Amino acid sequence: MANDVSFPSLNSIDLARESLRSLQRLLPRVELALSALIALDTQGWQEFCIRLSKYFPILFRLYFNLYGNRYDFFFHLEDLITGLARSWLARPLDLRVLDKARESNPLWFQSNQMLGGVCYVDLFAGNLEGMKSRIPYFKELGLTYLHLMPLFKTPEGENDGGYAVSSYREVNPPIGTMEQLESLARDLRSVGISLVVDLVFNHTSDEHHWAERAKSGDEDYLDFYAIFPDRQMPDAYERNLREIFPDEHPGAFTFFQNLLKEGGWVWTTFHSYQWDLNYANPAVFNRMAEEMLFLANRGVEVIRLDAVAFTWKQLGTNCENLPKAHILIQAFNTVARISSPALLFKSEAIVHPDEVVKYIAPDECQLSYNPLLMALLWNSLATRKVRLLSQALASRFRIDPACAWVNYVRVHDDIGWTFSDEDAAVLGVNGYEHRRFLNEFYRGRFPGSFARGLAFQENPKTGDCRISGTCASLAGLEKALTEEGLAEVELAIRRILLIHGVILTAGGVPLIYLGDEIGTLNDYSYQGHPAYKHDSRWVHRPKTNWDRYAKRYASNSIEGRVFLGLQKLIELRKQHDAFSGGVLEIIPTENDHVLGFVRTHGAESALVFANFSETPQTIASRVLENYHLEEETMVPGTGNSLHGQNIQINPLEFLVFITK
Ligand code: GLC
Ligand code: GLC
Repeated sequence: MANDVSFPSLNSIDLARESLRSLQRLLPRVELALSALIALDTQGWQEFCIRLSKYFPILFRLYFNLYGNRYDFFFHLEDLITGLARSWLARPLDLRVLDKARESNPLWFQSNQMLGGVCYVDLFAGNLEGMKSRIPYFKELGLTYLHLMPLFKTPEGENDGGYAVSSYREVNPPIGTMEQLESLARDLRSVGISLVVDLVFNHTSDEHHWAERAKSGDEDYLDFYAIFPDRQMPDAYERNLREIFPDEHPGAFTFFQNLLKEGGWVWTTFHSYQWDLNYANPAVFNRMAEEMLFLANRGVEVIRLDAVAFTWKQLGTNCENLPKAHILIQAFNTVARISSPALLFKSEAIVHPDEVVKYIAPDECQLSYNPLLMALLWNSLATRKVRLLSQALASRFRIDPACAWVNYVRVHDDIGWTFSDEDAAVLGVNGYEHRRFLNEFYRGRFPGSFARGLAFQENPKTGDCRISGTCASLAGLEKALTEEGLAEVELAIRRILLIHGVILTAGGVPLIYLGDEIGTLNDYSYQGHPAYKHDSRWVHRPKTNWDRYAKRYASNSIEGRVFLGLQKLIELRKQHDAFSGGVLEIIPTENDHVLGFVRTHGAESALVFANFSETPQTIASRVLENYHLEEETMVPGTGNSLHGQNIQINPLEFLVFITK
């Protein structure tokens, strides 16, 4: 992998000058190579040249930072730019129109009209045609952003829910075809829904043709991965690595007999069939950039960059969140600016909050999952206290104003308690002990627990684990329905609506894990399935039951109570511009159970309160004196008013006041 040839340092060469010289040398060569294509689209070529000149100095600096030590740097640079030009020339005209629209309105995703949904195509609708037939439902729900989880060709049997990709250019046959995906993207776009898909760029499946070529001994492809003939290097790396899927294999490497002469150790951060790519090799960057642009040209508007933390490896470090992992994404981002300007990135970094934010920048990932808010919402439900949550929103919610959080309560993955131990210590909470408590609580093993969750990747060496379960089961609905009664059912539904209320109003793009909107419970049938039984995340990945969806307007059904409640919250979000943007100010409510914040956007403000306890709470009138509220309007109609009196807030109630 890394080689130590000495090379001119970044500071000792004049990058601006060299970038200009390189561009002057490159462009005629690219033009010659693509002359036939250019002749068919001279205007497109001119547009490309303009964008390239604008972004080339940035791309050159990043690419030089990553690969400037290679004797064949220029070869790879030329190869990259040729690929970018080819992709742009292949970009459909309607997407070029979209590019222009997005460039003139780059903050479109901060609107209060935005609402995200995420699902698996096969589980939700069978296949891509089935997905199309659900567009009326997406419109009904109000979605403007739809994340379809990996739908690409993947090994049969175990494939990590599609996160082991065997071809980025082929849809998994039972799900459909690339043409159908393209057509779905167009139909979604025509009703204002942006298609989001994953770019699983940290690893491929061991059946990807790159991996197959490596297995056949092709040296060019052996260099696509990190493969070692013996344990020397793996041992040296593992001294500093965290185990991600310890249930499946210890450490980060897997031995394959059919590699090299006598077998080889392959870097496999996740499962053994997910081979980490070697980004120290510029060919890997170039090929992956082409795969990304291929997807963008099918109409994908947002790329979810999977497992961003793990892409760059360096001996002696934990190989997570390294500076070059950031440079890599910035380079991909610049590639997108040049050849598919409408494309945005969403980062999936489920790591320490200090690290999560480092991926968020207009020139890196414009969007990011907010795993901290997610984890702390569940923490507040368990503890019935909002101290950690308030602290996090006060100190860690602000990001670059040109970016946005993607706020969620559940997705297809486990819940990891990724809050900062240092933050917890400030409040006198011991992070390690507290995580143990949360794991006990959400597995339903702690007195007073309402949750029915399962452990995921329990690590006997560290005592650590993460939690699986659907939103409804974790919020108490399963236990209430099976063991308790009506009063507990009511509380569970309130919990579901409460945490959704927060993600719908806090600022950024709210994301609903489809199924949660009708209160879907855990599905334990995965335990009888050989490919799934070792992975408890399948408990919250059930096949959609459309009979249950049919009850969503029946106000006496569970489905209806959750759905109609959520629909009200969605309407509230969409009616008020105060919920646009990402500016949030925490209100010290002087009540440990009640979260309070103000959202302001344009001429409007909203005051939001959320009671995380099962008892009524009071917010003192003096708390509100600091908020210059005139002409208050009350939203969910509880008889509360803000005029100089205390506010009563019901158990697990979510209250919003709009002020102009
Ligand atoms: C991401 C996915 C997760 C998968 C992992 C490996 O974190 O969300 O489901 O297991 O990447 O690809
Ligand atoms: C990835 C996976 C998640 C896992 C995490 C470990 O982000 O999505 O399941 O918990 O890696 O850090």
